Amino acid sequence: MAAVQRLCIAGAGGRMGRMLIEAALADPALSIGAALEIGGSPLLGQPAAPGVAIGADIPAALQVCDVLIDFTRPEATLAYLAACRRAHRNIIIGTTGFTPEQKHEIEAAAADIAVVFAPSMSMGVNVMMKLVEMAARTLGADADIEVHEAHHKMKVDAPSGTALKLGEIAARARGQTLEEAGVYARHGLTGERKPGSIGFSVTRAGDIVGDHTVLFGGVGERIEITHRSGSRANFAQGAMRAAKFLVGKNKGLYDMQDVLGLK
Ligand SMILES: NC(=O)c1ccc[n+]([C@@H]2O[C@H](COP(=O)([O-])OP(=O)(O)OC[C@H]3O[C@@H](n4cnc5c(N)ncnc54)[C@H](O)[C@@H]3O)[C@@H](O)[C@H]2O)c1
Repeated sequence: MAAVQRLCIAGAGGRMGRMLIEAALADPALSIGAALEIGGSPLLGQPAAPGVAIGADIPAALQVCDVLIDFTRPEATLAYLAACRRAHRNIIIGTTGFTPEQKHEIEAAAADIAVVFAPSMSMGVNVMMKLVEMAARTLGADADIEVHEAHHKMKVDAPSGTALKLGEIAARARGQTLEEAGVYARHGLTGERKPGSIGFSVTRAGDIVGDHTVLFGGVGERIEITHRSGSRANFAQGAMRAAKFLVGKNKGLYDMQDVLGLK
């Protein structure tokens, strides 16, 4: 039987941290070796999992783990990354919002340790990206591509990062850039659809976790590829897949397309 991968859950008290602990406890191929929170957190000393209390001592936590899973904040991620590099432990980074310089730091660390870095860890979204790439490449310039996304009313940016990424993938697959193809608003006398454009539309309502559809309109037919998120648990499931993917790897930078074997 393959060895159990021992996880260190960073940001253990956060929304994703709690999901990660639940997902790891349900997976016999994984165990929780340690759980970390920011120094001074009221959660320090609280139980995270059977026999594991939440701590703040990163080197001590890494001694009893194979891989650290980080869904925190960029400044925390970089501290965890540096500690993993020193201790020769692998890291899975789900945190978002890095500057280009911070991304370079992550890339540099991958010379010494294995890093999975994925702003969307949803397995479904990553499979959808592959399907969109295939459809856009095959259907080519003739298809009218429209991206629609729907999210809860608290979301402050639009279109979502995932919608933009889907548009980018479709554009690249047929030799365009999203800068030249993207159309983000239509109102009034717009004229006919511009050939080769990729249109975006957005819904904001209630507590929708996140829906994305890419529509390819042709002559006499259309394809719609849709992903719907029902809860954040799908991100935790993706992180568990990433942890198992890292068994036996000791350096290199990977994303979810690598983890899922989609490249
Ligand atoms: N990759 C994905 O698929 C995916 C999915 C969901 C969320 N995220 C990202 O994961 C991150 C966390 O999301 P969340 O909803 O769990 O947030 P959250 O606010 O609920 O939790 C953040 C956690 O990080 C800890 N933290 C914050 N600053 C810290 C510091 N300086 N040092 C140590 N710990 C610190 C907090 O104490 C908390 O436990 C965000 O960047 C979010 O965008 C990514």
